[in-house]
Amino acid sequence: MDKVVLLADPNSKAWDFACKICDYVQKTKDVFIPLRKLSVNQFRNNEIDMHVLENIRKKEVYFIHDSSKNPQEWWVELLLLKDLLLNASAESVTFVLPNMLYSRKDRKEKSRVPISARALAWSISPGLKRIITMDLHASQIQGFYPENVPLDNLYSFPAVAKYIKENNIISSFENLVVLSPDAGGVDRAKSFAQRLGCNSLAFIYKRRTTEGIGDSRQIEETILVGDVKDKDVLIVDDIIDSGGTLCKAADLLKKSGAKKLFCYGTHGLFTNGTEELKKNFDKVMTSNTNHREGDDVTVIDVSHLFAEAIYRAQTGESISELFR
Ligand code: R5P
Repeated sequence: MDKVVLLADPNSKAWDFACKICDYVQKTKDVFIPLRKLSVNQFRNNEIDMHVLENIRKKEVYFIHDSSKNPQEWWVELLLLKDLLLNASAESVTFVLPNMLYSRKDRKEKSRVPISARALAWSISPGLKRIITMDLHASQIQGFYPENVPLDNLYSFPAVAKYIKENNIISSFENLVVLSPDAGGVDRAKSFAQRLGCNSLAFIYKRRTTEGIGDSRQIEETILVGDVKDKDVLIVDDIIDSGGTLCKAADLLKKSGAKKLFCYGTHGLFTNGTEELKKNFDKVMTSNTNHREGDDVTVIDVSHLFAEAIYRAQTGESISELFR
């Protein structure tokens, strides 16, 4: 571990996350990992410039990126930083991306649209040692990365299930249904259900309009698959962006006779605020992968899972053991 250094921008929200990783490794493994500073600035026309303040020659660098940044800046910073680190003779470069942006577009759902998750993979992967992220929108995105750049997709469910149990958020797991708001998230919902000791799963079939791109593709049809009558429901999703998916799901669940509603989305962007969500749910939970601040929703710390992954990637211990 003596060659390992963490790197983050002290003026970004990733700094606190990186400090938590260092503290965890120091406390639980008795290993000190230095945290180095990346300085980021812009020219007057908004071109990005950056500088690593200390020598990183022959170091194994783990860069912790701020997922709450403007996605375009987030992407360009990765490209420039990789260039900087390889030029500065770092021995290896690992990107730690708590929320992998540009992942929602992982297939060509109609003609003449980009597969953004692939474009990201192809642009950032050359020269990297590995990538560590969490709750990827779809796990097959790993296939966009070449075999010499492994991608560790961590899962937040152990931390969330622990939080829910320790804080008695849900009174009875026998009366609980864990629900995915789309068909693609059923495996994720199953992992949560298993860890909570709950036997009931459900999902919502969601169809979006084919017209439009990005946000203009409205949800046209939702069909509930599973029984929620007189049950409490925990919805789990990868992203809470506007919150529209969760609020629509809440409407459908109430009409179908559900009792209490809880929701968790790993990457909490909350681009439309939190008011509507708080009206619809007894508890709104997210993780700190998007560095959410404020106490209007519950933020569950997952930095220790990244710390374990970094430590184990170096020592050769199993990472998947964390999720068994
Ligand atoms: C979609 O496929 C994702 O898994 C999320 O459900 C979606 O991105 C959430 O977006 P919003 O909160 O804007 O409905």
